[in-house]
Amino acid sequence: KSPSPAAAEAKSEAAKSVKIGIYFATWWALNVVFNIYNKKVLNAYPYPWLTSTLSLACGSLMMLVSWATKIAEPPKINLEFWKALFPVAVAHTIGHVAATVSMSKVAVSFTHIIKSGEPAFSVIVSRFLLGERFPPAVYLSLVPIIGGCGLAALTELNFNMTGFMGAMISNLAFVFRNIFSKKGMKGKSVSGMNYYACLSMLSLLILTPFAIAVEGPHMWAAGWKEAVSEIGPQFIWWVTAQSIFYHLYNQVSYMSLDEISPLTFSVGNTMKRISVIVSSIIIFRTPVQPINALGAAIAILGTFLYSQTVKEILLEVDSLPSIESVMA
Ligand code: 3PG
Repeated sequence: KSPSPAAAEAKSEAAKSVKIGIYFATWWALNVVFNIYNKKVLNAYPYPWLTSTLSLACGSLMMLVSWATKIAEPPKINLEFWKALFPVAVAHTIGHVAATVSMSKVAVSFTHIIKSGEPAFSVIVSRFLLGERFPPAVYLSLVPIIGGCGLAALTELNFNMTGFMGAMISNLAFVFRNIFSKKGMKGKSVSGMNYYACLSMLSLLILTPFAIAVEGPHMWAAGWKEAVSEIGPQFIWWVTAQSIFYHLYNQVSYMSLDEISPLTFSVGNTMKRISVIVSSIIIFRTPVQPINALGAAIAILGTFLYSQTVKEILLEVDSLPSIESVMA
């Protein structure tokens, strides 16, 4: 006897939840590994503009090889696609380099505590730029997020303004990236994986001249020699690992973005930060004061509350204005 439509629907919903759960767990695990290698590299080799560029270059190369060898089906895209991708790539480039600059200046945990405020940025951008309205509970849930991040920043032992601002800029840039990406992916035949591959390539083109202007080959070569002589050949493995894992975690996150709304994505991203904060504090033996940890815990609790309040009113992508009208 065939199952009732309601039972079939419940089954497909459950299968979807399992799939998203697997994506989320993989995304978070890959991200922890990336963050650890990224910080190891930055400690020995403080050139965040180059390491950001290498991450994008590695991902682009991996995807070009996957397309050439048919491991992945190459996307069918045209000039319109690249034009629509451009603002997303600008936001991705800014968010990526800003986060890496931040992590070169402060503890990984601090960058991620500030980055746990991303849902607050999402609401503010949606409210003021996209004209979305939210119930009061959503705005109230921002109080612990912003208050917790503020408390953690004020009590951070190794506070550094560039580190703080880098994480804040990254939050803002990534909110735009997520909203525009979801919009760009909707109704297109390009999968999340290929969309992120194209995004990496375009971001690489945008970032390379800036990386050369800000740091440049002279600094890179001198620093490289120093890092290899200090750490040994395994330094090259660290750089390779941070680049590969950067691509992989982003690719998986885009595969989930294919299935969920930008707001759910932001919430999943904040939950991811708990694993990054805890693991990096343990691995790098980051000194944490109780009040500092309290600030982080309040911010993260705020995100839980936020996710509860937005559950019912998840931003409908259909109701978003077009990229063109937002950029105009
Ligand atoms: C980056 O380099 O892009 C950041 O480390 C990533 O930040 P995310 O955790 O928001 O992806």
